[in-house]
Amino acid sequence: MTQKTRAGQYHLFAMPMGSGGHMAGWRHEEAEPAALMTLGYWQHIARTAERGMFDALFLADSQGFRPIAGVDAFAATDAIRLDPLVLHGALAASTQNLGLVATVSTSYNEPYAIARRLSTLDHVSAGRAAWNVVTSTSENEAHNFGREAHYGHAERYARAEEAIAVCKGLWDGWEDGAVIADKASGVFFEAAKVNGLYHKGEHFCVAGPLTMGRSPQGHPLIVQAGASEEGLELAARTADAVFTSHPTMESGVAFYAGLKKRVAAAGRDPESLRIMTAIQPVPAVTAEQAEAEAKALNEAIPPKLALSYLKTVLGGIDLSRYDLDGPLPELPDSNASLGTRQRIIDMGASGMTLGEIAVAVAASRTSRSLAGTAATIADELERWYEARACDGFVIAPPSLPVMLDRFVDLVVPELQRRGRVRTAYKGSTLRENLGLGRPQSCYTVDPALRAEPEIWQG
Ligand SMILES: Cc1cc2nc3c(=O)[nH]c(=O)nc-3n(C[C@H](O)[C@H](O)[C@H](O)COP(=O)(O)O)c2cc1C
Repeated sequence: MTQKTRAGQYHLFAMPMGSGGHMAGWRHEEAEPAALMTLGYWQHIARTAERGMFDALFLADSQGFRPIAGVDAFAATDAIRLDPLVLHGALAASTQNLGLVATVSTSYNEPYAIARRLSTLDHVSAGRAAWNVVTSTSENEAHNFGREAHYGHAERYARAEEAIAVCKGLWDGWEDGAVIADKASGVFFEAAKVNGLYHKGEHFCVAGPLTMGRSPQGHPLIVQAGASEEGLELAARTADAVFTSHPTMESGVAFYAGLKKRVAAAGRDPESLRIMTAIQPVPAVTAEQAEAEAKALNEAIPPKLALSYLKTVLGGIDLSRYDLDGPLPELPDSNASLGTRQRIIDMGASGMTLGEIAVAVAASRTSRSLAGTAATIADELERWYEARACDGFVIAPPSLPVMLDRFVDLVVPELQRRGRVRTAYKGSTLRENLGLGRPQSCYTVDPALRAEPEIWQG
């Protein structure tokens, strides 16, 4: 191994998607798709991530069924998603140190409810809650929440920005030390340290305050994964961590430099935002075994299904009339994720055929698939980290729980030997483990902002 040029340890987030992030992952002989809706399955995954010293467990989500035209039954495990906040409530009691990242959409949730549930999770987990802010990408979510069509891209980001501001305002509302519970004087909380919000915005009207005191982390960590111009600008202004995904290290390096520059331009310290890139590892004891497993998984995806899946992620663009062995055709506009669309265009520009792109996207969305021994995988992570493609990794195992078990048993000890992963948790909150500061309430920072208590008491 060459001399390290970049100090520090990697941050690791586990991203268990159902029975695995690979479309055919559930068919692996050691996958456990039948256990997907049991608490024991998720407890095993959470405890394994904690055993592997991961910073956090990230539960992705969509509040709707995402059918894949014509062949729904094959990808059925993708259709099953338990509610992340409810599940994390249970996992908080099954773990001690692991951060708990819940995906909650600002398009189909009211910010008061978001702030309240996440603050509850931060309290009951003693400071381990994080919010993956998403704007939703599927039409079906709109149909489940009283709308005929999903919000347009600009409108959903405007809602997200306002929702984050409302949540932060609510979380700041109770200053540290407001609850005194003084039995002798009979004073339960210090009214001057509880502030209403009185927000009247374009999308939301929220009076506040919340029904609970300030949470251990000040407020839960804010995570985002949007890759569009609006998404990146919002992240630069408001996120503590960003999830991203890149088929090549070069695009990761460009993304990293660009986003850190935006964070600085937004008046923040670039080090106050952690950039985490998703990889899909297939670790095995020998390189031959890892490659054979990765190949078998890809061959278990029917090409027609891969093309249908590509249509889904591209927001309905049907490419079935094109030659699978030919190049990616020019893509018309759609209301889908702009980031995903751009990564697909990049794959086409790199010379991949339409068929290869379809299988690669079905296999690992757009993240880097990485099959090999512990040493090979560790070398590749090292290369990305050293090149400043990321501050850490979102580990998205293709088959569960088998590939997370293997990552923790084979790869983590190798990363620990190289000094890149902790051998014991040092902090007691997720912010501490990520080396991020605890935000103060804006009212504590500037007491002049405090409002008269009688307003909210009425
Ligand atoms: C690692 C990673 C995880 C993501 N998880 C979710 C998720 O759980 N739910 C969701 O709706 N979108 C998820 N996304 C998509 C983004 O949050 C974002 O909504 C999408 O990229 C569309 O935004 P854009 O148009 O700004 O790219 C994820 C993206 C990445 C890279």
